[in-house]
Amino acid sequence: MTNILCIGAGYVGGPTMAVIAKHCPQHKITVIDINPERIAAWNSDQLPIYEPGLKEVVDIARGRNLFFTATDIDEHINQAEIIFVSVNTPTKTFGQGAGRAADLQFWEKTARQILRNSTTPKIIIEKSTLPVRTAEAMSQILNTNPNGLHFDVLSNPEFLAEGSAIHDLENPDRVLIGGHNTPSGQAAVQTIVDLYANWVPRERIITTNLWSSELSKLVANAFLAQRISSINAISALCEKTGADVEEVAYAIGTDTRIGPRFLKASVGFGGSCFKKDILNLVYLCEMQGLTEVAAYWEQVLKMNEYQEARFVANMVHAMFNTLAGKRIALFGAAFKANTSDTRESPALIVCRELLDEHADVVLCDPYALENARTDLGAQSSRVTFELDPYQAAKGAHAIAILTEWADFAALDYQRIFDAMAHPAFIFDGRNILNHQALFEMGFNVYAVGKEPRVKFNAISS
Ligand SMILES: NC(=O)c1ccc[n+]([C@@H]2O[C@H](COP(=O)([O-])OP(=O)(O)OC[C@H]3O[C@@H](n4cnc5c(N)ncnc54)[C@H](O)[C@@H]3O)[C@@H](O)[C@H]2O)c1
Repeated sequence: MTNILCIGAGYVGGPTMAVIAKHCPQHKITVIDINPERIAAWNSDQLPIYEPGLKEVVDIARGRNLFFTATDIDEHINQAEIIFVSVNTPTKTFGQGAGRAADLQFWEKTARQILRNSTTPKIIIEKSTLPVRTAEAMSQILNTNPNGLHFDVLSNPEFLAEGSAIHDLENPDRVLIGGHNTPSGQAAVQTIVDLYANWVPRERIITTNLWSSELSKLVANAFLAQRISSINAISALCEKTGADVEEVAYAIGTDTRIGPRFLKASVGFGGSCFKKDILNLVYLCEMQGLTEVAAYWEQVLKMNEYQEARFVANMVHAMFNTLAGKRIALFGAAFKANTSDTRESPALIVCRELLDEHADVVLCDPYALENARTDLGAQSSRVTFELDPYQAAKGAHAIAILTEWADFAALDYQRIFDAMAHPAFIFDGRNILNHQALFEMGFNVYAVGKEPRVKFNAISS
């Protein structure tokens, strides 16, 4: 039985290790974290994150060959033969590169902790997303030890998407493993290839050099975000010209060179990764003197901020240039459907801007309200948190759809309309509703990248 350790029990560490444990009963997988509450949640029936299918996988392996613990960390490190490092790598908020570069303090602390507690050689795997050439620093820290221990550092970035993490881990488009082109580096790569080959078809396991692997993760996220920003840029033009962004997206997406995915116009992208990873890429380019390349990728982020701001500006403008004292129901707090994660969620950005307009905001989400409350900090005292969308919309002047939860598309909007203040507005930031039907009910309908359907209703509130 190989002892595999994962440092960091977050959105990546927890699900990834659960799937490895499920498919590799011959290995013992231990997941540790500095946050004991998170570990306690992993050991309970209320897992710390919501992911479809996650509970079922954890139930199969937990206590068999999957263990979550916050104690005896040093001993677990010493016993491990393979260590995945999946700690957070947020954007630096201080000093050089503040607001752009990755903050590698958790990363470096982890490397030193591994070194301090090791009496045997190990394979160390970068699971976190990191700037290209971080493995070099990691390798230097680990391999300058007085006892002559050797550590092979590999890059194995995670490509799972929150909301479909278990599906993505079970059926990955590819698994990427980067290692040094030395006998020891290649042997380490083969060990990790063999681990994934327990359930991933061999042809989907790609091996590269270390730097290609590190950079590919940043580039994958930059390309995905770029597609969203591209279609969002076009959505602004559609609203001015009478073109419909969904028709345009369909028309261009049928071109096999372009493809249909990630062409859904919306209020903007969120999540903990896209912004942070693009900032990181921009910073790397700037450090290499590649000013134009940096500016090109930075524009992806600027377009996203523009889209969020434009959404709120449309709301203010449509609702007679004042939101002060108006009840506005926000349907969705999570940054996307099927997750409880609210990090960088456009919903919370919209929420804050509406609070600045002195609106009376009601936030409604099936799984993300607790995270939203934490993220909003002091501002949360000015927000009403409501699980039931019908209650949230009761007496509201407007609804804004900010997360594409399927439940929001299936609501009885006639019932909602009847209980709202009139004229009633609906702003569909995810284009999940039947706009014509809503318009016929009496709503004034504003959807991203579409001409507004507006019929100011004579009924007064
Ligand atoms: N969230 C995603 O969808 C996703 C997808 C692919 C890659 N990634 C990358 O994976 C990494 C982790 O992301 P995440 O979303 O899981 O973050 P997270 O914040 O959910 O989890 C990180 C965990 O690491 C723990 N931690 C930090 N320092 C530690 C230490 N010294 N010892 C033990 N535990 C420690 C934290 O307490 C936290 O629980 C990031 O680099 C991220 O960019 C994330």
